[in-house]
Amino acid sequence: MMEHLKHTDPEVYDSIVAEARRQADGLELIASENFVSRAVLEAMGSVMTNKYAEGLPGKRYYGGCEFVDIAEERARDRAKELFDAEHANVQAHSGAQANMAAYFTFLEPGAKILGMDLSHGGHLTHGSPVNFSGRLFEVASYGVREEDGLIDYDALRETAKAERPAMIVAGASAYPRVIDFETFGSIAREVDARLLVDMAHIAGLVATGHHPSPVPHSDVVTTTTHKTLRGPRGGLILCREEHAKGIDKAVFPFMQGGPLMHVIAAKAVALKEALQPDFSAYSAQVIANARALGQGLAEHGFHLVSGGTDNHLLLVDLRPSHDELTGKDAEHALEAAAITVNKNTVPGESRSPFVTSGLRIGTPALTTRGMKEAEMKQIADWMAHILEAPGDETRIQSVRASVRALCEGFPLYRELATA
Ligand SMILES: Cc1ncc(COP(=O)(O)O)c(C=O)c1O
Repeated sequence: MMEHLKHTDPEVYDSIVAEARRQADGLELIASENFVSRAVLEAMGSVMTNKYAEGLPGKRYYGGCEFVDIAEERARDRAKELFDAEHANVQAHSGAQANMAAYFTFLEPGAKILGMDLSHGGHLTHGSPVNFSGRLFEVASYGVREEDGLIDYDALRETAKAERPAMIVAGASAYPRVIDFETFGSIAREVDARLLVDMAHIAGLVATGHHPSPVPHSDVVTTTTHKTLRGPRGGLILCREEHAKGIDKAVFPFMQGGPLMHVIAAKAVALKEALQPDFSAYSAQVIANARALGQGLAEHGFHLVSGGTDNHLLLVDLRPSHDELTGKDAEHALEAAAITVNKNTVPGESRSPFVTSGLRIGTPALTTRGMKEAEMKQIADWMAHILEAPGDETRIQSVRASVRALCEGFPLYRELATA
């Protein structure tokens, strides 16, 4: 594997092998991550990286695009089929850029958007002041109820009526329950706003019918391709035919230059995988695993925001069970035992976003490795054991060894990790 790289750049080669080993030897529970197939990796590492292809298939600004056109056509057709959408643009380099294109299809700078507050589970691109969305647009926000961690649709409707945004943004980075896109759609229509749904986290679940689709209710749907959808890092935009030209122009020439054709080829491969029946079984298992992990943690006394999960992630509020333990310290202790999660703010958060009182935990990556409910229960036990005494080096080392042994039974990128 990677014979050329090994000789020309041993430093980068070694870093890639070490990363493959880290992924193989630890428990990856970051909710936004996954492990792509070898086929996706091959498409991404292909000669399509060499090709400039500004424009769209059949309408390029450069010659020699006949083969990259095939890859992009496949990606677009498969995205449309998978999500039952009239139009797909597969060129956005990332989820953030997909959102930027969606905004600028419908809005001028200074327009008002209504998005989910970052500290309640929204995303930076939904109006945070440190992001372009907060700098270029006027922002109003909605959130979840502190008591139950659920989106308060009545309060959302009231805010929408009072604020009269030009666009409502639905979608989240840390929301464990079903999002009612139909209600979002009806609120948007009531106040004459556009509806953007950013389904980045749940796209794989939507693709397989394990979460209701936002497509019939929205003006535009954006997603990343690398989370539950299990493709290469990148963005994807879906809309009705009437907005197709606007979306395409907002991606190029407005926002980007040449599309990443190797990534688009890899998106096509991942979308084909997502159309297969075993991907539906995979998505069902992602949810079953999140539930099992949640149950296991709840049995150890951990408080789950909203009481559980309907999707691929759990949000743990550490305060009721571990008052002194911050999200930051919990993340570090688990990381030392090769269990990777991320600290996260929780509803009614009292600590800073760099410290937090919560953990976000997701199952897409471990489910790709083939782990099931029994492994989730075991992982919950290990997490509880570590977090009971986060400074206990002996516990950390013993759990780390057990994690390693478990991982050996679920091999990942074996030739790469043992290079
Ligand atoms: C809901 C949501 N939207 C957009 C993004 C941004 O995606 P990217 O990191 O590809 O720019 C994320 C990433 O975490 C996300 O969770």
